[in-house]
Amino acid sequence: MTRAAQTLPVPDAVGELYDRLTLSAMRDGSFNPNVHIGYWDTPDSEASVDEAMDRLTDVFIERMKLDASSRVLDLGCGVGGPALRVVERTGARVTGISISHEQVRTANRLASEAGLAARAVFEHGDAMKLPFADASFDVVMALESMCHMPDRQQVLAEVCRVLAPGGRLVLTDIFERFPRKEVRHGGIDKFCRDLMSTTADIDDYVPMLHRAGLRVREILDVTEQTTLRLAEELAKLALGGERPAALDEGNFHFSDDDFKPSDLAGADDFGCLLVTAERPR
Ligand SMILES: C[S@@+](CC[C@H](N)C(=O)[O-])C[C@H]1O[C@@H](n2cnc3c(N)ncnc32)[C@H](O)[C@@H]1O
Repeated sequence: MTRAAQTLPVPDAVGELYDRLTLSAMRDGSFNPNVHIGYWDTPDSEASVDEAMDRLTDVFIERMKLDASSRVLDLGCGVGGPALRVVERTGARVTGISISHEQVRTANRLASEAGLAARAVFEHGDAMKLPFADASFDVVMALESMCHMPDRQQVLAEVCRVLAPGGRLVLTDIFERFPRKEVRHGGIDKFCRDLMSTTADIDDYVPMLHRAGLRVREILDVTEQTTLRLAEELAKLALGGERPAALDEGNFHFSDDDFKPSDLAGADDFGCLLVTAERPR
């Protein structure tokens, strides 16, 4: 029996989903400027979920090799938390795009409030067809956004087009860690269905980067530092009866049947890749 093909996300529908998530998080007080998994360096790291989220951005910063003259594209920028941290820490200039109008509005407001609007600008746009000229960025970062894009190959080709020769790409992406199972963990199914995502094929990642014209510098399985640890942290918070400020179940949860982070408990095949690549000179 072969497995059914994954349902491809539709960008405008993903935008509407993030409009709803952003507004509901603002309403119920669970708003967080980061919309990603977080990174715990070691199994004994005592970092909170919020600290781990900032740490993931710092893991990107270590790989992006930026200075104040760098032009960065944040592909799928959320509400701008990672981009603003990049600007603060490196002085680089960041343009963020999101398919959600509400996120773009919020990100520009946060940039103004932080006094960073001259170096951080957010626009509505679709990663499948980037509204930028060839070679207009030195670095592209994509924190947990590829999973929502209907054709990774096309996105990578667009990334290669807008990168200057020698420019870098750093991304995280979701993949199924073991040879794909006939029947995958129900939490992954719900995640993909309700958060309009697909999982990447790890065997195809390097060929896909090459086909796009990019050279791989590093490709790491960071599942232990990211998705698995996050599931543990959320389980602990749920046991303690605490509402996690950063990744509140309320952020995702619309009805009893809808995906909630605790659905991923025990999903050890829900993997995360950290990829660094470059456009050859
Ligand atoms: C999980 S959030 C990550 C946000 C941000 N990178 C962060 O780490 O806080 C996924 C982001 O990808 C964006 N996205 C999804 N599909 C997109 C597309 N086709 N074009 C542009 N942005 C997209 C969403 O709007 C959202 O901002």
